[in-house]
Amino acid sequence: MKYAIRYYSKTGNTKSLAQAISEVLNVKAHDITVEPDEDVDILFLGTSIYGSSIDPSVIKFFDELKVNVKKIISFGTSGTMQSQSQQIANLCLVHDIELDENEFHCPGEFVGMNKNRPNSQDIEDVKEFVRNVIKRA
Ligand SMILES: Cc1cc2nc3c(=O)[nH]c(=O)nc-3n(C[C@H](O)[C@H](O)[C@H](O)COP(=O)(O)O)c2cc1C
Repeated sequence: MKYAIRYYSKTGNTKSLAQAISEVLNVKAHDITVEPDEDVDILFLGTSIYGSSIDPSVIKFFDELKVNVKKIISFGTSGTMQSQSQQIANLCLVHDIELDENEFHCPGEFVGMNKNRPNSQDIEDVKEFVRNVIKRA
């Protein structure tokens, strides 16, 4: 099973989830600007919400994807509990990529809200989420 990890993170919150996923999969987590150079079975794709939207670089990532990605698993953080996944779902639909029904989302610190999130429990939770993905794969 070939895994890859890509993330977009303005302030480091989603990056910390990506690093935890990387530890479990033993696969390097790359910034979204690094295009995958070989086909992927499962791509863990992390992003957040800024002004109610994902960053345009995530849309660019989909547009420029040259390899075959069988499935995406979405993860991310946000100031509210608004998840990134609906916007990722729309991109998957347009690009004909399967989106796993399971996603990981937790609060991320933002202007005094969600202090220190993701915290150590969030990191444990995302690791457990990934272990379960591996078991099902
Ligand atoms: C410029 C900016 C705009 C944001 N807008 C929203 C928003 O509309 N809704 C929301 O829930 N959180 C919003 N947030 C909070 C982020 O979603 C939250 O801090 C997230 O954890 C940031 O992830 P990152 O550190 O990986 O970039 C915003 C944060 C920034 C920096």
